[in-house]
Amino acid sequence: MPASVTPSPPPSSAASGSRRVKIGLIGLGRLGSIRARILLGQPRVDFVAACDTKPGADKWAAQNLPPTVQFYSTPEELMASGVEAVLISTATSTHAPLIIQALDLGLHVMCEKPISIDVITTEEVMAKASSKPDQVFLVPFNKRYDESYQFTKRMLQDGSLGEVHAVETHNADQQEPNGFFVAFSAMSGGIFLDVGIHDADIARYFLEPTKGIEANPKKQVNRVFAVGQQAVYGALKETRDADNGWGLVEFANGKVFNMHVGRTLTNGYESSTRVYGTKALSAINNNSAINRVEIRDQHGVRTQTTPDSFTLYGATFGKDIDEFAGAVLDGTPLTCTVQDAYEASKIVTALQHSFRIGKPVYFDDEGRPILEDL
Ligand SMILES: NC(=O)c1ccc[n+]([C@@H]2O[C@H](COP(=O)([O-])OP(=O)(O)OC[C@H]3O[C@@H](n4cnc5c(N)ncnc54)[C@H](O)[C@@H]3O)[C@@H](O)[C@H]2O)c1
Repeated sequence: MPASVTPSPPPSSAASGSRRVKIGLIGLGRLGSIRARILLGQPRVDFVAACDTKPGADKWAAQNLPPTVQFYSTPEELMASGVEAVLISTATSTHAPLIIQALDLGLHVMCEKPISIDVITTEEVMAKASSKPDQVFLVPFNKRYDESYQFTKRMLQDGSLGEVHAVETHNADQQEPNGFFVAFSAMSGGIFLDVGIHDADIARYFLEPTKGIEANPKKQVNRVFAVGQQAVYGALKETRDADNGWGLVEFANGKVFNMHVGRTLTNGYESSTRVYGTKALSAINNNSAINRVEIRDQHGVRTQTTPDSFTLYGATFGKDIDEFAGAVLDGTPLTCTVQDAYEASKIVTALQHSFRIGKPVYFDDEGRPILEDL
């Protein structure tokens, strides 16, 4: 776990109501420890409880969280402690049971993506969430909270991009020498599911696949095809996973999405998106430099790369919490809907499957991927 947790400044756009949401954080891992820091600085949230089942998490919490945040060693204890909302930041395979448990206890729920590593479980969670219409349920996709993506969306809406017909994404992590990605693979469902879901979601944000499919509104995707490699992490073969993957998606409205996901860069983290319109192309994060400084030395002229997604998209991890608090306190609408999370999850499940079977995956008339046996 990271060494210290000091409050982040609150997002400047936050509304200033007097009531705050009493929230508990479940999971204090890579992202959870960042969420803890951000929660402490949120203006509309009272961060009162934290929990992680990992041995030693209590010590980490005692050393890094203020005494106003009570540590619990199980999610059950935390959920029964008087919180009105939870932020679930645990390993993906634990999300669905924790979401269902929290919703059944009457709590509002924010959960990291993805809801689950399989479509059936995602559907069960959606059914539970829709049976609790008075409780807020948010699964945020952080690119939607990023200013450059929002700027591009406004270009689409005001017509300056013309007709948007294709999206290409490149989302690549830096190599991790301790083999984190190999251990993570078994729990995360694979690279297309874990990393690619962000890109599938942002492609849908721009390609609007619910439009132009009046003949069958249930079917948003025609087919997908994926290939992958174990270029650096050979052990990923055991979980039928890849450290580099390429996916092609044909939406039912004729629009096309092409993604590259990777975990093997040596320079840092890169996450770029190209939105192709008939009047203009928007290239987001085309330059992965961390700032505008050029270092000129014996190696030549160079810039330093943004190290990870938590740095590139840092501000978004507070904006989504702020939106969640607004939805709980004021009933304001959410940027990401559960339906969006479900649709993105079907696409990446199909891509992961296509990579594993070496064939395209088609979608049926109900809008589900047809997954033949492995
Ligand atoms: N939005 C994003 O950009 C983004 C980025 C990174 C991770 N994530 C998502 O966040 C989640 C966490 O990722 P991470 O990288 O922090 O993983 P991680 O493995 O570093 O941390 C997960 C933590 O959850 C704890 N945990 C597991 N099961 C638990 C349970 N039942 N109750 C309480 N604690 C439990 C583990 O002990 C661990 O400390 C994943 O679902 C991942 O997909 C999202």
